[in-house]
Amino acid sequence: REPGWTEWADVVIVGSGIAGLTAALRLRGQVERIAVVTKDVLAAGSTQWAQGGIAAALGDGDTPDQHEADTLVAGAGACDPAAVHVLVNEGPAAVQELIEWGALFDHDPEGNLSLTREGGHHRDRIAHAHGDATGAEIQRALIEAIRRASDIAVYEHAMVVDLVPSADGGIAGLTIHANGVGLPDGVGLVRTRAVILASGGLGQVFSQTTNPAVSTADGMAIALRAGATLRDLEFVQFHPTVMYLGPDSRGQQPLISEAVRGEGAFLVDWDGKRIMDGVHELGDLAPRDIVAKAIQSAMLASGHPNMWLDARHLGAEFWERRFPGILASCRSHGVDPVRDLIPVAPACHYASGGVRTDLFGRTDVPGLYATGEVACSGVHGANRLASNSLLEGLVFSRRIAEVLPGELRDLPEETIDRRPAGIAAADVRPRLQELMSAQAGVLRTAAGLSVAVDELNEMAAESHDVATPTAWENTNLLSLSAALATAALQRRETRGSHWREDFPERDDEHWSGHFDSVLRDGEL
Ligand code: SIN
Repeated sequence: REPGWTEWADVVIVGSGIAGLTAALRLRGQVERIAVVTKDVLAAGSTQWAQGGIAAALGDGDTPDQHEADTLVAGAGACDPAAVHVLVNEGPAAVQELIEWGALFDHDPEGNLSLTREGGHHRDRIAHAHGDATGAEIQRALIEAIRRASDIAVYEHAMVVDLVPSADGGIAGLTIHANGVGLPDGVGLVRTRAVILASGGLGQVFSQTTNPAVSTADGMAIALRAGATLRDLEFVQFHPTVMYLGPDSRGQQPLISEAVRGEGAFLVDWDGKRIMDGVHELGDLAPRDIVAKAIQSAMLASGHPNMWLDARHLGAEFWERRFPGILASCRSHGVDPVRDLIPVAPACHYASGGVRTDLFGRTDVPGLYATGEVACSGVHGANRLASNSLLEGLVFSRRIAEVLPGELRDLPEETIDRRPAGIAAADVRPRLQELMSAQAGVLRTAAGLSVAVDELNEMAAESHDVATPTAWENTNLLSLSAALATAALQRRETRGSHWREDFPERDDEHWSGHFDSVLRDGEL
């Protein structure tokens, strides 16, 4: 089908969280026509929801080396050490620049940056804002900076449908479904010299997630269709303490930040016994995968659908000052954490894998870069260390901005050979989410994963729908679910957040090295 309209830009950035807006602000002045496209409003992505904070070696006595060691341990032997080295060493300056752009972090009475601790960290190194609204503050500051940068074009409600190939096997543009504000109405073509994917994660693959509704794996899916390699998809992090709202609650669920445990809360079972006692030297602040597994094991052993977080001893004054957002969220669901235990269960939180990149965000498709949750530079390995995600977006977007201006190609000719993609039926989403939660969630087996792959293939073959943005999201969810289940089936070991009941041990002999588990579209 011919595009209804055509535009052009030097660089198109897809996504408007910390990764996308940092890339735009950093490219400013180096590249002329920069466009940011986002399928909802600028603040709709995951950045806005981040509670705990952003990790960097900013405190007295802390060093990037110690941050590096904690990141590598959490990653369970699957990190790319060079990428981790970059992250922790460039992190402090990147956070400093964020402050210069206007992000207001919390300070102690002496005026020093207030730092807290989360799972897997041996130091207090998490900077936070308004207590537990770190992501919202960062998003606010970045949006204000982007709005001031009037030479950066911003298009909201513009969903990227696909990447358009160029004759040299790279990217020549994007097809976009726009709503007539900024870009014309309907599906059109934006020709471009480079695309930066910064479109976030895939939480909506599962029935319960901390991710907002927009996290539908779009960037990973369009990159896969464009021939990019995806890596480490099986490493989906389940956050241990997501508020349990009952068996019928679906979609985005309220997060109870690890920082609450960082300030002294602890997990208990239905008999009041502490769950993390004797499980790990860091107790309730063990790396996230270990805490999630301990909770899930306690749930399986007892038959209960949740466990409990005890934070009553923090007291009303502390709760109000340090975690006002979480306090309000709990109370809105009828739980007062000053008096009550908080019901918690693990839920999908973060994709540690994604579109494979090098240390400068380059994918293996010419002209295509990726940063933030959509990307996999290797910093997270099998389990992301708490509060390293905002940092990753900052650091690697800055790195892309270092190299991209020197690598810009002439505006390539698009090829006529566009890959057709089937459109998934509109009602596929709840079925897909239930299937993935049951068969490819926290605990996995070969039998369950095979069921998932077969049923996903059946869903993909079913009747197709009209090409609305929702149907495109469903298409993306379907193809990423299939890729994720395939990757999880292939990795026959337990490591980090990938937990195989039928292969319960970590198998370093067969699964060492970080380039395992790479997927291309043709291999699915
Ligand atoms: C949290 O606040 O517990 C989430 C932090 C993160 O995902 O890194």
